[in-house]
Amino acid sequence: MNLRTVDQIDSGINVVLRLDTDLPIEEGQILDNSRLKKSLVTIRLLLDRNCKIIIIGHRGRPKGIEPSLSLKPVYAELMSLLRNGNEDFDVSSVFVEDVKNGERIKETLANNQIVFCENLRFWPEEKDNNPDFLSTLTFVCQAFINDSTATAHRRQASTMLYQKMDTYYGLDFVAEMAQMDKLKHRSASPRLLILGGAKKDKLSRLYELSQWADKILIAGKLPMFMKNSDLNLFDKVTVAELRPDGLDISQASIDLFKSEIEKAGTIVWAGAMGKFEDESSRYGSQTIGESIIASPAYKVVGGGDTQACLKMLGLLDQIDFVCAGGGVLLEWLANYHLPTIAISN
Ligand code: 3PG
Repeated sequence: MNLRTVDQIDSGINVVLRLDTDLPIEEGQILDNSRLKKSLVTIRLLLDRNCKIIIIGHRGRPKGIEPSLSLKPVYAELMSLLRNGNEDFDVSSVFVEDVKNGERIKETLANNQIVFCENLRFWPEEKDNNPDFLSTLTFVCQAFINDSTATAHRRQASTMLYQKMDTYYGLDFVAEMAQMDKLKHRSASPRLLILGGAKKDKLSRLYELSQWADKILIAGKLPMFMKNSDLNLFDKVTVAELRPDGLDISQASIDLFKSEIEKAGTIVWAGAMGKFEDESSRYGSQTIGESIIASPAYKVVGGGDTQACLKMLGLLDQIDFVCAGGGVLLEWLANYHLPTIAISN
C-alpha cells in the first residue's frame, strides 16, 4: 500500500484534517484518549510547518443535533494534550458549532491556527456522503489529511474528501494500514476472531469473515441480535450464553472461549464481552483479556471501546497491534478493500 504521507506536505497552507474523535465518554468523563494521542504526531508536524488546520470528525451515531454527543469535550482534551502543561503554548484555536456556516469558517480560520468543527454527524449530509456538505472546506483549504483509521471503511462526506482535494495520510493512519496489510498476508493459523460489544453491524459480514477466521466467537450484546439462520450457516461460529441479566457472558462460555484462545495462532478481538464499565459485569472481559495476554498468539485488538476496556484492565500494552477501529478492521479482514484510500504511484 503506497500512501502519500503528511510529511510530504507544503508549509504554510490551509488543511482539512479528519481525526478519530469518537472517544468513549461516560457521564462527561473521557474513558480513553488514545484516539487523539495517536494523531498528535501528525498535528504537531502540521503546526511546525505553520499550516492552519480545520479539524473534522464525528462522535457516536446521533439522530440530528444531540448536545450529549457534542465534540466540545474532545476539542478541550485535544488542546490540553497539545499544550501538555506548557504555559508558553500559544496556538490560537476555536470551536465552530455551525459547520454549514461558510462565513463563520472563513472568519475563524483567518484569526486562528486551529478550527475544530462540531460533530459532522449532526447533519444528515455527512452520512449521506453529500458532495456539497463540506464545500467551504474544499474552498478555503489546499489539502486534505486523513488520520482517521476508525472510519476508513465509511463512505461519508468527510472520509471521501480525497476525491475532491489534494490528499495526504496521517502518520498513524499509514502505520495502522501497514499492520493491517501484515495481518492479511502473515497471520498464523488457527485464526481466532472474537466479536463483542454493542454494534450489531459487526454481524453483517460473518460469511466473509469466516473465510479469514478458523473460528469465530460471539459475545457482548451481539447474541441478542442473532437469527437462528446465522447459527446454522457456519459451523465455525460459537455464540456465547449470556448471564440472565444479559450484561456479561456465562462461566460456561468463558471456559469454552478460553479453550479456543489456547489453541489459536492469531487472535483478533473486537468488542468487549459484557458491560465492562460496570465492575459487576467486567469479569468476562477481564478473564478473556487475561487469557489472550497469556497466549503466545499474535494479538490484535480493534475499536475504541475494546481499547478502553483493555486500558482499564491494564492489559493494552501487551497487545501486538491495537487498531483504532473495530469496524474498519473487520471490513479489512472481510474483503481487503477500504473505500477511503487513494493509492499514490
Ligand atoms: C468507531 O467507533 O469504530 C468509529 O468511530 C466508526 O463509527 P461508526 O461505526 O459509527 O461509523
